[in-house]
Amino acid sequence: MRNIMITGATSGFGEAIALTMSKQVCRLILTGRREERLMALAQQITTTTHTKVLPLVFDVRDNVACEKAIQSIPEEFKPIDVLVNNAGLAVELDPVHKGALEDWERMIDTNIKGLLYVTRLVAPQMVERHSGHIINMGSTASHEVYMGGGIYCATKHAVLALSKAMRTDFLPYGIKVTMIAPGAAETEFSNVRFHGNQERADKVYEGYDPLVAQDIADIVEFVLSRPPHVCLNEVIVTPTAQFNGVINRSK
Ligand SMILES: NC(=O)c1ccc[n+]([C@@H]2O[C@H](COP(=O)([O-])OP(=O)(O)OC[C@H]3O[C@@H](n4cnc5c(N)ncnc54)[C@H](OP(=O)(O)O)[C@@H]3O)[C@@H](O)[C@H]2O)c1
Repeated sequence: MRNIMITGATSGFGEAIALTMSKQVCRLILTGRREERLMALAQQITTTTHTKVLPLVFDVRDNVACEKAIQSIPEEFKPIDVLVNNAGLAVELDPVHKGALEDWERMIDTNIKGLLYVTRLVAPQMVERHSGHIINMGSTASHEVYMGGGIYCATKHAVLALSKAMRTDFLPYGIKVTMIAPGAAETEFSNVRFHGNQERADKVYEGYDPLVAQDIADIVEFVLSRPPHVCLNEVIVTPTAQFNGVINRSK
C-alpha cells in the first residue's frame, strides 16, 4: 500500500491525479488552500473508492504552515512513498519592464520556494528508507521562454534544475525523481493567471485541442507503474497542435 501526497489537489492536474490514483491501492494525502474544495474531493474519493484520504489545508509559500501540516500527518499515512509537487501558478503576461513585484513574488514563492519547502520536509524520510518517488510539475516553460511569460518560465526552468539536482542528490538513496513538462492544458491555470477573467482565459485555448487534466493524470499513473529499476526522468507532453512554443490554431 503506497502513501501518495499530492500538492495542489483542489483543481486541475492535482485533482485529476488524485481521482486517478484513488482507483489504485493507496492512501492519499491531498493539499491545497481551498478547504471546501479539498473536503469535497476527499468525500468524493472516500464514498466512491476504498482509498483513505487525508486532506491538509495549507499554503505552500508558508514554511511554518508546511511544517505544521506535515508534522500533523498520522502514522497511518506514513511513510510518504510518493510526493507529487504540483501546486503552482502563473500570474499575468507582462514583459519584464512592466511586471508587478507582487505577481513575481507569488510565482517565485509558490513554484520554487513552496516546492522546496515541501520537498525538504518530506524527502528526509525517503532518504532514511532508501526509497521513494518525487514527481515535480514542470512545464514546457522549463525549456522555453515566451513573450510576457519570463518570470513564470524562470520558475519552471528552476523546477527543471531542481529536479536534476534532486535526481543527483538522491541517487545514492534509490529515490526516483521525475519532472513532467506539459504544454498548454485547459485547467483553472489561465483563469488564475488572468485574475479570474474567464473570457481572457478561454482565448488561450481557442483554435486547437489543448491537453486536459486527465492527460497528465494518465502520465503520472504510468510513471508510477514502472518497475523499481526504471525511472522516467522527464516526460514532455504537448497538445498535438503545439511544438517549440508555437501553437497551430487552425482548427
Ligand atoms: N495548465 C497548464 O497549461 C500547465 C502547463 C504546464 C504546467 N502547469 C503546472 O501544473 C501545475 C498545476 O496547474 P493546473 O494547470 O492544474 O492549474 P490549477 O487548476 O490552477 O491548479 C493549481 C493548483 O495549485 C494549488 N496552489 C496554487 N498556489 C498554491 C499555494 N500557494 N499553496 C498551495 N496550493 C497552491 C491550487 O490550490 P489552491 O488554490 O486551493 O491553493 C490548485 O490546486 C502548476 O504547477 C502549473 O504551473 C500547468
